[in-house]
Amino acid sequence: MLSEDCILKDIYERIWDLARPYLNTRKNDIHTEISTGLAQLLLGQEGGDEDIVVPAIILHDVGWKKVPEDIQMKAFGPTATMPEWNRVHEVEGARIAGDILRKVGYHEDKILEIQEIIKGHDSRKDPISKNDSIVKDADKLWRYSKIAVQINEKRFGLTVEQGIERLRRNLEPWFLTESGKRMAKEEIEKRAKESMV
Ligand SMILES: [Fe+2]
Ligand SMILES: [Fe+2]
Repeated sequence: MLSEDCILKDIYERIWDLARPYLNTRKNDIHTEISTGLAQLLLGQEGGDEDIVVPAIILHDVGWKKVPEDIQMKAFGPTATMPEWNRVHEVEGARIAGDILRKVGYHEDKILEIQEIIKGHDSRKDPISKNDSIVKDADKLWRYSKIAVQINEKRFGLTVEQGIERLRRNLEPWFLTESGKRMAKEEIEKRAKESMV
């Protein structure tokens, strides 16, 4: 007899398999992998429902696949000139997530909660639940990873120092959980040390 944990892990794998074809754009494959690991860490420290948070973070950016690549770079970040396209990735993402979750037979109530989180993961500043806060923090915490700092230096034309300063400045406005903020601070210290080598 399989335990409930095993069954859930198997379902997450199937969700990953169905999400992958939508994540091979905008470095979202790397981003999603890292943010999913961060979401697991946050769940361990903050509580929250794994069966909502994990599918939500795996699927939160699938909608970028529906935004043309030449527009993507103008739709997000500190240099965005077409931010209205950012909304498209949230709405399309929620729709695609619903299709994927129904395909794996997810519970309808949980699908609706996950879609609600995805629909506002960037544009809605006030969280609707702890699960929402964890997804938002895991999404942003990735920006503090070594690989994201390197990617964003190139993307936004920032020096390492400017990149680190941007991360430091946004600690308060970006993070909703204490654990998220603490982990972000720890990452900043690591990035600062690396930049001095
Ligand atoms: Fe996003
Ligand atoms: Fe994201």
